[in-house]
Amino acid sequence: MTRHLRSLLDLTPAETNRVVDLAVEVKANPGAYTEALRGKSVAMIFAKQSTRTRISFEVGLHQLGAQPLSLSTSGGTGMQMGRGETVSDTAQVLSRFVHAIVIRTFGQDQVDGLAEHGSIPVVNALTDLYHPCQALADLLTIREHLGSTRGKKLVYVGAGNNVAHSLMLAGPRSGMDVVVTCPESLRPNADVLARAQADGAEHGTSVSVVIDPTEAVRDADVIYTDTWVSMGEEEEAKRLIQTLSGYTVTEQLMAATGKQSTIFMHCLPAHRGEEVAAEVMDGPRSVVFDEAENRLHAQKALMLLLMGGASWS
Ligand code: CP
Ligand code: NVA
Repeated sequence: MTRHLRSLLDLTPAETNRVVDLAVEVKANPGAYTEALRGKSVAMIFAKQSTRTRISFEVGLHQLGAQPLSLSTSGGTGMQMGRGETVSDTAQVLSRFVHAIVIRTFGQDQVDGLAEHGSIPVVNALTDLYHPCQALADLLTIREHLGSTRGKKLVYVGAGNNVAHSLMLAGPRSGMDVVVTCPESLRPNADVLARAQADGAEHGTSVSVVIDPTEAVRDADVIYTDTWVSMGEEEEAKRLIQTLSGYTVTEQLMAATGKQSTIFMHCLPAHRGEEVAAEVMDGPRSVVFDEAENRLHAQKALMLLLMGGASWS
């Protein structure tokens, strides 16, 4: 059966753990995997900008012996998808040429459609709804800095967006409690929250929304934030920045955890003075550049598993 990463809903807790275990191994021993995907090609479609995701996939696939094809949806080198070729036709054609598709786009339906109509693995490299590759790398980073994700409390501060949604699903898959603290008008998607809470109930973790940030961060092991204005929301920037003005991660908010060991995480790109104070972003508790680096290792592990270069068990 063809496996995908449309969202973290595609992974069980054991499989999530397997990706992170393999990422640890790949990071420690990259030389062992240089031929693992030799002769394979991956179409990487980017309808939105990217620094970390595109580069880490491109470099990571190269390091595994595969050929990454960086494709856009606009301009002279853009895919016909950008001017109306259907997702179904695109999926069927790409399935004849390449061995996997990585896509960053707006609608989750495009990711789901490629998976439905193609016959090769499809990886969500960010949609408006989810950012699962980010969350997998984040689990690796938390494990490295705190020893384990199990029993830890992650508090996401900011809008209930794609990154928040993927962290909400990552919690129950990694033994971690997740709290989203956000203004009432920017709560996470209700369906994603309900699913994350159901998964949490099944696996013994909690997923909750707390409006007051100071209350939310109490006992947090990880404080996490993301940009206040996501790609595609540029026209709403003013309103979003106003609405989120009480949700900056400051030294004071870090201190409100009551723990010296709390780490600060951010998927990047960051906006100092908006979602995070410069002293926190550039301070001793920030692990943001380890977090960025881990995109490479986690995605190498993911592609090995999805493309037959390593086994799931
Ligand atoms: N965190 C992340 O996905 O970064 P990019 O948008 O640069 O890929
Ligand atoms: N929420 C952000 C994440 C960027 C990596 C966005 O969608 O733009």
